Amino acid sequence: MKYYITTPIYYVNAKPHIAHAYTTLIADVLARYLRLKGKKVFFLTGTDEHGAKVAQKAQEFGKNPQEFCDQVAGQFEKAWLNLDITFDSFIRTTSELHKKGVVKMIKQLKENGDIYKADYEGFYCTGCEKFLTQKELIDGKCADHQVEPELIREKNYFFKLSKYTGVIKEKVKKDELLVRPQKRKNEIISLLDTNLEDFSISRESVEWGIDVPFDKTQKIYVWVEALMNYISALDYGKQGRQAGKFKKFWPADLHLIGKDITKFHIIYWPAILLSLKLPLPKQVFAHGYFTINGEKMSKTIGNVIDPNDLVEKWGKDATRYLILNQFPVGEDGDISLEKLEAQYKANLANDLGNLLQRVLVMMNKFEVKDKAFKIDPYKHQDLDFQKEFDFDLDGFLNFMDNLKIFKAIKKIDKYISQSNKYIEANKPWELAKTDKIQCQKVLITLYRRLILVARLIKPFMPDISKEMLNQLESGEPKPLFKK
Ligand code: MSP
Repeated sequence: MKYYITTPIYYVNAKPHIAHAYTTLIADVLARYLRLKGKKVFFLTGTDEHGAKVAQKAQEFGKNPQEFCDQVAGQFEKAWLNLDITFDSFIRTTSELHKKGVVKMIKQLKENGDIYKADYEGFYCTGCEKFLTQKELIDGKCADHQVEPELIREKNYFFKLSKYTGVIKEKVKKDELLVRPQKRKNEIISLLDTNLEDFSISRESVEWGIDVPFDKTQKIYVWVEALMNYISALDYGKQGRQAGKFKKFWPADLHLIGKDITKFHIIYWPAILLSLKLPLPKQVFAHGYFTINGEKMSKTIGNVIDPNDLVEKWGKDATRYLILNQFPVGEDGDISLEKLEAQYKANLANDLGNLLQRVLVMMNKFEVKDKAFKIDPYKHQDLDFQKEFDFDLDGFLNFMDNLKIFKAIKKIDKYISQSNKYIEANKPWELAKTDKIQCQKVLITLYRRLILVARLIKPFMPDISKEMLNQLESGEPKPLFKK
């Protein structure tokens, strides 16, 4: 069974930060988990490189836009490799592959009679890359960027959204287009009940973008072509058998996004797909937003966290685990470096790292060498978890299947701390003097618990999982985490 999962494509106006890493990590953990379950996963991420915002940044740095995009897109790719993100494809919107797909789609929208040209006047916020309505302004300013949007009067091509809103609403209501969490579904249904205006799909005053194929005075609106990445990346612009990926993987099983971009993904994108007569994505999941020490992450405040710095400090596996161990995926939350540091020491270095060392040291010392319990880590690539030793495996798998990643991690953490309590309660070092058989039993129980932990953490900390299994096999303890 195939599974196609996507992240938003990130704007290249700045280098990757921890929030981009957060979205990408959720997708990666899910992709790795589903591969372990035997699914044929296609995991797409990439960069959003056109539009006024990126062009302005390039100018500030005295670079031509393409050169600037190449540089920042490279930083994204490097950050993801640094975090061991197993994307199958990295789409860049300045690539020929993307442009081909987009041009094909725009021509089809025109042929289907869904676009028309009209005069437009509106307030455009370059930071958001969208027109804002009067209602969205606070004291005349964009609430997110605290700047007055620009009043723009120009000719645009528009898309006949109203033709499709009824169908979209039905599909969302019936979960044919599953929107999670529920509160986002409710929001979208209410929004669909308002009189949504047709949206602009091109811009006259923008230079850095893809030409509208039938009108060279216009560039395709950056958000419209960005959404199209989800199928341009599957070779949609190619012909016949060369477009095999599209046939194999579309529709997307999951578009993972942040809660800020639901309207684009649950209204505009499905409307475009309906016009193109293509199936809609099966699910859109919108995760929450987080603050850093209670404040919005911003360059002005100077609290932007670079994921590469965390990897340097704690290693990539611990960084992956810590970032996802903060709050439930669908909720908002807060992150602080102090809390991450404390969790690194308590949950990883102490609870997990020390547990493994202690058990292996004692097994060597008290000569617990029951071969029956030795394992070959490479035989266990799949999820052949054992349903024993007090672990609620069904609950864990259910959490993983439903993107309750935070709860799944909490279950592992709890299991590890229970194992530490079990050591303290049974004191195998004392049993070694009084009851050798019982000492063996206790250590073998812990040993098997550790095998289970190693397998459970595999999607989160793939190398630590492997290292644990290696040590459990060889019986040679080495520190798991840097002190
Ligand atoms: N380029 C568009 C997306 C196009 S998808 C077809 C875009 N890019 S972005 O770089 O500005 O943001 C992408 C995503 O980053 C957001 O949807 C969200 O997932 C994530 N986040 C950015 N800041 C965030 C937080 N402070 N907290 C959590 N995630 C947030 O929008």
